[in-house]
Amino acid sequence: MLVAARMQGIALEHSCRTGRCGVCKARVLAGVTEPLQVEDSLTQDERSRGIILTCCRTAVTDIELDIEDLGELGNVEVKTLPCRIHALHMLSDDVVEVALRLPPTSPLHYLPGQYIDIIKGGIRRSYSIANAPRDDGRIILQIRKVPDGEMSRYWFEEAKENDLLRLEGPLGTFCLRQTQVSQLVLLATGTGIAPIKAILQQLAKSAGVNTYRKIHVYWGGRVEKDLYWTPDFPEFDMNYVSVLSRSLNSSGAQGYVQDAVIAAGINLQDAVVYACGSESMIESARNKLIAAGLGPENFHSDAFVSSN
Ligand SMILES: Cc1cc2nc3c(=O)[nH]c(=O)nc-3n(C[C@H](O)[C@H](O)[C@H](O)COP(=O)(O)OP(=O)(O)OC[C@H]3O[C@@H](n4cnc5c(N)ncnc54)[C@H](O)[C@@H]3O)c2cc1C
Ligand code: FES
Repeated sequence: MLVAARMQGIALEHSCRTGRCGVCKARVLAGVTEPLQVEDSLTQDERSRGIILTCCRTAVTDIELDIEDLGELGNVEVKTLPCRIHALHMLSDDVVEVALRLPPTSPLHYLPGQYIDIIKGGIRRSYSIANAPRDDGRIILQIRKVPDGEMSRYWFEEAKENDLLRLEGPLGTFCLRQTQVSQLVLLATGTGIAPIKAILQQLAKSAGVNTYRKIHVYWGGRVEKDLYWTPDFPEFDMNYVSVLSRSLNSSGAQGYVQDAVIAAGINLQDAVVYACGSESMIESARNKLIAAGLGPENFHSDAFVSSN
């Protein structure tokens, strides 16, 4: 259903496309659908209320869905393109930054926050784009080494400048939406900061996009060296808080990003939250922040679920 809708220029909310993250949940109002794969992230209660995962199902008849209109995203064309590694640069012991060069005749048009799939031989993995669109068309990725990971082995042991890869994208619907609220809360763990960085660059570049009175950025890692970047955007009023779960933090908070947001007393009824990173952070942040007053429609997420 996700692919069929896209072919008709309609963007449906999605992230992992494998049934794991639950972002593509939609209620069927009319018509018949059929599962093509297991809908892992649906509860029994959701199933009984007619909720489905559009990434896992096909339509058997014409259907009517209760979904948000994602407007602009429907016009974003998904392409498969060749690309070459332009540069590789270690950001920390276990995170590498990869700059990709695309053919000058085939630029990738995307919205900050979206991700691409990298295809190498028979392997395909998803990575968020860590930059807002640039004049030179480069795409920057921030990739964490996963122990015994198939694609990690390539990035950390074999990859070199000028290697030829393929990408498919842009994918995902994790990008800024228009809202009436005044507080923008951006949450990340680990390399989940990549799409947040792209969104912050977009806010800094285009004055019209920033309709918020205050922007809060909470970035979590286990220890200080996991936080390999310091957001610095004099263009807007930003409150950056680093959050460490496994060591003392002299300059930020201790524990988990979702708890730090609640402890800070941000008025969540007047906020929109974008959360990116581990599945556990996203699930906990969704539950806790909604319980603390955030409108469920104002929680957006991209979970870095495993591709296999
Ligand atoms: C929408 C989306 C965006 C993503 N963006 C990024 C990004 O910007 N940067 C980035 O570093 N990663 C990102 N990921 C995760 C990435 O796609 C891969 O899953 C990850 O890099 C591991 O791939 P691999 O081939 O090295 O490991 P695999 O061979 O796939 O896995 C090896 C083992 O590690 C486990 N594993 C794999 N991935 C994870 C994970 N994320 N968390 C916990 N356990 C895991 C597997 O279950 C398996 O047991 C994203 C994932 C999604 C769905
Ligand atoms: S469960 Fe469908 S996009 Fe993640």
